[in-house]
Amino acid sequence: MTKIKTVDHLASIKTYEGVKPLEVIAEELNIPVAKIIKIDGNENPYDPLPEVLAALSSLKNIGNYPDILCSNLIQILAKKEKLEVNNFVISSGSDELIELLIKAYANPSDTVLSVTPTFGMISFLAQVHGIKHKAVSQQLVKKESFAHYVLDEDQFLDEANRSKIVFIARPNNPDGNVVSESFIERLVALPVLVVIDEAYIEFSDFHSLAKLVPQYENFVVLRTFSKAYGLGGLRVGYGIMPNDIRKVLVSIKQPYNVNIAGQKAAFAALSSPLVDQRITEMKKTREWFINQLKMVQNQLKNFWIHPSDACYVLLTFESPEIPKNLYEYLYSKGILVRYYSSSDMINNLRISIGLQENMVKVIDEIKLFLKGGN
Ligand SMILES: Cc1ncc(COP(=O)(O)O)c(C=O)c1O
Repeated sequence: MTKIKTVDHLASIKTYEGVKPLEVIAEELNIPVAKIIKIDGNENPYDPLPEVLAALSSLKNIGNYPDILCSNLIQILAKKEKLEVNNFVISSGSDELIELLIKAYANPSDTVLSVTPTFGMISFLAQVHGIKHKAVSQQLVKKESFAHYVLDEDQFLDEANRSKIVFIARPNNPDGNVVSESFIERLVALPVLVVIDEAYIEFSDFHSLAKLVPQYENFVVLRTFSKAYGLGGLRVGYGIMPNDIRKVLVSIKQPYNVNIAGQKAAFAALSSPLVDQRITEMKKTREWFINQLKMVQNQLKNFWIHPSDACYVLLTFESPEIPKNLYEYLYSKGILVRYYSSSDMINNLRISIGLQENMVKVIDEIKLFLKGGN
C-alpha cells in the first residue's frame, strides 16, 4: 500500500480551533442544551429574528441552484451603504473572502501580514495556500484596571511595504480594540492590498470605513451576517471593494457559494428593526459586565480588562493557571468561554457578551471562583 503525501506546505499545518457543537458539550456535561451559556464564539445570543424565520419557512424552489451573484441581497446592501452594486461580493461567511483574496492576490513568494493576537483564520488560510504569513506583535500594556494591545504602527507600515496583503480586524478579535482611521489611511497609501475586517463594526462606536472604498484601488472591507444579524449557522458574509477586485473574486469563487436559505435569511435580516435594538442591548450589557468586572478587579487585582468595541471582552491574568482553572470551573457550570492554549495567549480568557440575565450568572460564578482564593 502506498501512503499518499499531502502537498509539502500542509505537512506542518496548525489546525484552526473552532468551537464545539452545543449538543456535544451538553452531552459531555449532562446538562440540557437550553441550560448552557455559550459565550465562547462571539455568536449572537438572541433567538433567530422573526423576519428570518418567516423567510426560511416560505422557501420554495430549493431544488434549484441559487443565484450565483446574490443579486437581491447585493442591491439592498448597495442601497444601505450608498455604494454601487459592483462594489459587492457575497460569500459563504466572510471567512470565504479572506481565502478568495489570498488565492487571488498572494503568490507563494508573497507575504500576508497581520498583527498578533488577531483572528486565527488569516494565518490558517495563508498556511493552507502555502503563503508566508507574518504577524507584527502588539505590546501588552497594563494601566490600572485595564490592559491594551498597542501596535507599533511604524513597524507595521514598514512590514506592510514588503507584503502583498495586509489584514486588519477593526474591531480586533480577541481584544475588541479599534485602530485609528488615520493609520489605515497611511496603510492604504502603500503598494499593498489592505483588507479591513469589520465583522464586529456594528458593536462599535467607531464608524465603518466602507465609505473609503471608492477612493482606492487597493482597499477592501469585509462584513458578516454572523454576528450582529445572528446568522452564523447560515454562513453569509460580504466584501465591499473596487470593481476590479470584485471581478477577480467573482471569476474564481465557487459559483454557488451562498445557498438559497442564506441569501433569503440575510435579505430578511436587513429589514428587521430588532437588529439595532439587540445591538443596543448588547452594548449596554457589555458596559454593565465591564463595570462588574472592575468591581471584582478592585478587590482582587489579579487580572486586567481589555476595553472592547465588539461583542466580547478579553481578560488578561497574571499567570496561566488562573484562566485555565476559571475556564474549567465555568465549563463545569455549563458556561463556555474562550480559553487559549497557545503560549502567547495562555494568560487570557475571552468572554462573549450573552443575554443580560445570563451575564448576571456569569459574573456571579466568576466572583465565586475568584474569591475562592484562585
Ligand atoms: C474578526 C473576525 N472576522 C471574521 C470572522 C468570521 O466570520 P464569518 O462567520 O462571516 O466567516 C470572525 C469570526 O469569529 C471574526 O472574529
